[in-house]
Amino acid sequence: MGLLIRNGDVVTAGRRFTGDVYVEDETIVAIGTGLAVPEGTEIVDATGKFVFPGFIDPHVHIHLPFMGTFAKDTYATASVAALIGGTTTLIEMCCPSRHDDPLDAYALWKSKAAGQSACDYTFHMAVTRFDEETPEQLRQIVADGTASFKIFLSYKNFFGVDDGEMYQTLKLANELGVIVTAHCENAELVSRLQQELIAEGKTGPEFHEPSRPETVEAEGTTRFATFLETTGATGYVVHLSCGPALAAALAAKERGVRLFVESVVPHFLLDKTYAERPGVEGMKFVMSPPLRDKRNQPLLWDALTAGAIDTVGTDHCPFDVEQKLLGKDAFTQIPNGIPCVEDRVNLMYTYGVSRGSLPIQRFVDALSTQPAKLFGLYPRKGEIAVGSDADLVVYDSAYRGVISAETHSVNNDYSGFEGVAIDGRPSLVTVRGVVQVRDGVFVGERTRGEFLRRATNPAYSQPAATDFSHDSTPELQPRS
Ligand code: URP
Ligand code: ZN
Ligand code: ZN
Repeated sequence: MGLLIRNGDVVTAGRRFTGDVYVEDETIVAIGTGLAVPEGTEIVDATGKFVFPGFIDPHVHIHLPFMGTFAKDTYATASVAALIGGTTTLIEMCCPSRHDDPLDAYALWKSKAAGQSACDYTFHMAVTRFDEETPEQLRQIVADGTASFKIFLSYKNFFGVDDGEMYQTLKLANELGVIVTAHCENAELVSRLQQELIAEGKTGPEFHEPSRPETVEAEGTTRFATFLETTGATGYVVHLSCGPALAAALAAKERGVRLFVESVVPHFLLDKTYAERPGVEGMKFVMSPPLRDKRNQPLLWDALTAGAIDTVGTDHCPFDVEQKLLGKDAFTQIPNGIPCVEDRVNLMYTYGVSRGSLPIQRFVDALSTQPAKLFGLYPRKGEIAVGSDADLVVYDSAYRGVISAETHSVNNDYSGFEGVAIDGRPSLVTVRGVVQVRDGVFVGERTRGEFLRRATNPAYSQPAATDFSHDSTPELQPRS
């Protein structure tokens, strides 16, 4: 049976029009106005509502052994939460520790998702050490359809790679045509600052931000960009949080480094005062890079509007109150992460589009189309076009509600956005033509989700920069 979404305000990154979208089986087969459809077609009246392409979250953690514990979600919970919030594809970080075997880890991460996800999914493969076996292992993983890597410049001795390993990862990625995503903070500086603060008795969550100041993130971003420039690889900074790191990324982009930027929902809307709340209330807001001074938020919003920030993800990473309390005696032991996979679309719509100045097509671009394009899913995903997967979100901007852990579907006992108002929510969400959500309720197939195999991209295989004619070294002024 077909599905007709009739008379909606269809908004994609490139077009906006009032019309109909007709779906048969898994794909969009017709777009127009007043479409005639076969008898028996389910008809959804989208008059007065938006119709968006299914949203893609380019950065989530579901299975995550980290800081002595495990993130709380499973695919059964996270994929349903994602769908209720309008996200139809998840890109999960596959994150073995540096002591794990990458192929075993990759198989383990895939097994956690297979047959258990309600939405489609794929992975970024974290490279957490680089030895003589790594190239062949990564080739196998890329051949399996996981065509993006992740590196951490932070989390020394666990996920973190050193500069030599980063260099080798980028060289291989460039050879294979794979984009490399990176968590950019200077591991050594974080480690030193943490030790000093703890030695001074500064153990509470309010000292998490001072242990990873903006300069530390700017240094990581600059270094990553320099390594991209030198190797010719293409990179993507994850969860960029502050002005100095943004300036570093923009400077690199301007001089032609192939670098893309993601920021995540908590950094647009929460600030470091949340982590300064006493006790566990502050611990709930510990993530890395940390929540920053509020003055950074307008910079992030402006850069998002201008397209200097390419995508918006969540870095969804739920740890419950009991787990957060592992760090009650030292902020360095608080499991890092804030959950928000369910809330990304509603929050960015509310505070970007409805109450802010983010153009609605840029909103769709950053939350759906750009993740699809950068990570090899376009035009299957991230688009409303004939032949694209019928992942569709009918969005009711007349809905008014409040986010709460009491009502969310994420497997966590708190929400970082408790009590925050939203000006809209999906009224209908489809995954490849099947209605999965109606008006905030999951009504679909819990095992509908498929693993998305992605091809490598020749555009990510470029010569290294040997011509530094863009040299921007300032002229030195002779001393008088
Ligand atoms: O605090 C965070 N971001 N937790 C998840 C791990 C990471 O760095 O992405
Ligand atoms: Zn990270
Ligand atoms: Zn992350």
